[in-house]
Amino acid sequence: MQEEKLHIPVMLHEVIDYLKLEPGQLIVDATLGTGGHALEILKRISPGGRLIGIDRDEDSIEVSRRRLSDFTGSFELVHANFADLDQVLSRLGIDKIDGIIFDLGISTFQLKDSQRGFSFQEEGPLDMRLDKGSYISAYDLVNNLNENEISHMLWSFGQERWHNRIARVLVQERITQPISSTTQLADLVVRAIPHRYRRSYYRIHPATRTFQAVRIAVNRELEVIENALKKAVAFLGKQARICVISFHSLEDRAVKHTFRSLKADGLINIVTPKPLTPAASEVEANPSSRSSKFRVAERI
Ligand SMILES: C[S@@+](CC[C@H](N)C(=O)[O-])C[C@H]1O[C@@H](n2cnc3c(N)ncnc32)[C@H](O)[C@@H]1O
Repeated sequence: MQEEKLHIPVMLHEVIDYLKLEPGQLIVDATLGTGGHALEILKRISPGGRLIGIDRDEDSIEVSRRRLSDFTGSFELVHANFADLDQVLSRLGIDKIDGIIFDLGISTFQLKDSQRGFSFQEEGPLDMRLDKGSYISAYDLVNNLNENEISHMLWSFGQERWHNRIARVLVQERITQPISSTTQLADLVVRAIPHRYRRSYYRIHPATRTFQAVRIAVNRELEVIENALKKAVAFLGKQARICVISFHSLEDRAVKHTFRSLKADGLINIVTPKPLTPAASEVEANPSSRSSKFRVAERI
């Protein structure tokens, strides 16, 4: 694996500190990715510790398996949706854990693989499935939802200001040909946005929000957060911690509300009343970390 394709773990020092890691602990990494957080966790829970790594993406699991090989015997990697955390842990005979980390979204490893279709900067098929075994791809949504549904998706999951215009352009285009590649979709989005806004309004590429929205819809990413966090808390031992890194406001809102509701139920204390953000030095070294927000809670 080329180093530049590996995902740089975000807020690594904060994750390590807030998990209060000690040798012998059992920690779950619910979003293993290419194992950046997992590797540092394993170093600190060894000897005697055990890490359970979960990911929806089999390719990422394989990369991690190689990367973590110095610790073989101390970890189990499971191809699953973290929405099924309870089943994954029960199957492994686990009823109590000492900490869990969720690092939501997608990794650089997935983004940089043009064949996965996550990037508007590289030509690739319109796929965007985190789990290659799931049925619905970005192609299916973009070519089959009606104009209102596309518009709604772009607004709800991307907060895209030009959702109506983009939806109209996509629906018109597919009358003549299906929308089948990432760059085709990105070009259509740019075309749909009024000229004068293409540069000034967007500090980011104009297709960023559309791609985010479609990806979230394909993988039903927001739907599972609340349930998964609640399941995770049910497994935490007393004073064990749950750490969550999110990358956009919709995810962070889901985390914040779930933590509040778990606190109201007397199950957790919130350790970070306001989310932590990466230090300026981290953002400089790894610009993709810039929008991350980190929240931590502790089981009562
Ligand atoms: C930001 S990356 C994690 C990077 C990882 N912390 C590292 O250091 O390499 C997010 C990962 O979560 C996975 N993922 C996203 N949603 C998931 C879900 N519902 N269940 C399991 N894995 C999921 C993605 O496939 C991706 O590999």
